[in-house]
Amino acid sequence: MSALIDLNMVTRVYEMGGEALYALKGLTLQIDKGAYVAIMGTSGSGKSTLMNIVGCLDRPTSGTYSLDDVDILSCSDDQLAEVRNAKIGFVFQQFNLLSSMSAIGNVMLPMVYAGVPAAERMERAVSVLQQVGLGERLYHRPNQLSGGQQQRVSIARALSNRPSILLADEPTGALDSHTAEDTMRLFNELVSRGITVIVVTHDQETANHARRIVRMKDGEIVDDALNV
Ligand SMILES: Nc1ncnc2c1ncn2[C@@H]1O[C@H](COP(=O)(O)OP(=O)(O)OP(=O)(O)O)[C@@H](O)[C@H]1O
Ligand SMILES: [Mg+2]
Repeated sequence: MSALIDLNMVTRVYEMGGEALYALKGLTLQIDKGAYVAIMGTSGSGKSTLMNIVGCLDRPTSGTYSLDDVDILSCSDDQLAEVRNAKIGFVFQQFNLLSSMSAIGNVMLPMVYAGVPAAERMERAVSVLQQVGLGERLYHRPNQLSGGQQQRVSIARALSNRPSILLADEPTGALDSHTAEDTMRLFNELVSRGITVIVVTHDQETANHARRIVRMKDGEIVDDALNV
């Protein structure tokens, strides 16, 4: 059995005006099921590029990627989308909530696309919103919620299709340090329920909540250590 996420010698090359830009330079990384990993590194070091590949939004230029023992490079675009929808939840810095919809509406939306029956959508949305501590805010719209609460709605939305992996790119970048800490604790709870969480952050204190910290520089991993 290989690791849940198994990247070997992965490169991602962007062609820019005839020049090749190596955003990832032969990166090898294994992440086991149930891990809680923080990815750190300076701006431009390739963190988002890596997250997009791990989340099957993008493909490596070369190297191999196996996710849950599926060879991602041999998947068609449709198969890749299927893997993504079945296994991955995304959380973003700017929440990306629809302002005209309530919390519960935002959380139900991905389930509409996934074809979950209406009655079950409602039940699941309430359940994930309760899990993130927003059981009392189901019908609030984003502008009626604090930043931290909006981020919780976006986390609930990411959980709605029951992903095994949660990918969060700078989820705490728009939050104050106290709210950032709450978010990282919430991720820890999700990890204890068996979800694998990978978080990109610039902030060392935020990263310290994770159990493993991977540091990137110029498209490479320069440090990878358990956070004890
Ligand atoms: N679509 C693209 N086309 C061309 N170059 C890109 C593209 N996306 C990223 N890059 C380049 O790849 C490198 C890595 O970018 P990436 O977004 O992964 O960095 P990052 O570590 O997430 O940075 P930040 O902390 O600022 O978000 C950068 O040099 C960037 O300019
Ligand atoms: Mg980035």
